[in-house]
Amino acid sequence: MPNDLTTARMILRRWREEDRKPFRAINADARVMEFFPAQLTAEETDQTIARIEEHFDRYGFGLYAAELIETREFIGFVGLNVPGFTAPFMPAVEIGWRLACEHWGSGLATEGAQAVVRYAFETLGLRGLVSFTVPANLRSRRVMEKIGMLHDRSGDFDHPRLPEGHPLRRHVLYRLYALPGV
Ligand SMILES: CC(C)(COP(=O)(O)OP(=O)(O)OC[C@H]1O[C@@H](n2cnc3c(N)ncnc32)[C@H](O)[C@@H]1OP(=O)(O)O)[C@@H](O)C(=O)NCCC(=O)NCCS
Repeated sequence: MPNDLTTARMILRRWREEDRKPFRAINADARVMEFFPAQLTAEETDQTIARIEEHFDRYGFGLYAAELIETREFIGFVGLNVPGFTAPFMPAVEIGWRLACEHWGSGLATEGAQAVVRYAFETLGLRGLVSFTVPANLRSRRVMEKIGMLHDRSGDFDHPRLPEGHPLRRHVLYRLYALPGV
């Protein structure tokens, strides 16, 4: 069983049945899904949770369910993922985040991501991480920058799951390397 990660305000943990309902609401919210091709149906959210849990079983790490310590509320995810598509930067481990918009703007994604980076480098021994999004997703790019990632312009790519001409096809690639000896 992978470890839970604890931050000042959150526990990052494996998923529970009671996360399903609030995660369905997050994925059905147009504000949260602004930079994704579509909002998710309840069934698609259930499939997403199943894929995340399979990923944990396969790799021992994944996209952690984020729970606020103070209220025990599930607010989304922060964690690691091996992308399931081919791209020039693959193989790689991605760091990613998605939070309920009531909780945006108070540093929670950055706080969770910093804990995930430490875990990835110090415990898992990964040597690097990538993150990617559409150029217009400035909130997410800001989180990438705040955790020390750099935009690798030579790695920007067209997402292979989206058709040519789709407005969300172009993606920016960010990288973070573990320093030798850390
Ligand atoms: C991306 C996301 C996880 C950020 O969560 P968060 O907890 O609000 O992030 P933080 O508070 O740690 O940092 C957000 C930063 O973006 C900045 N920001 C917010 N809106 C912005 C905007 N419109 N333009 C530029 N920067 C913006 C904030 O000011 C903050 O930076 P600062 O600390 O330097 O002021 C959240 O917005 C989200 O879930 N979005 C939808 C899902 C998504 O797009 N996920 C990423 C897919 S790649």
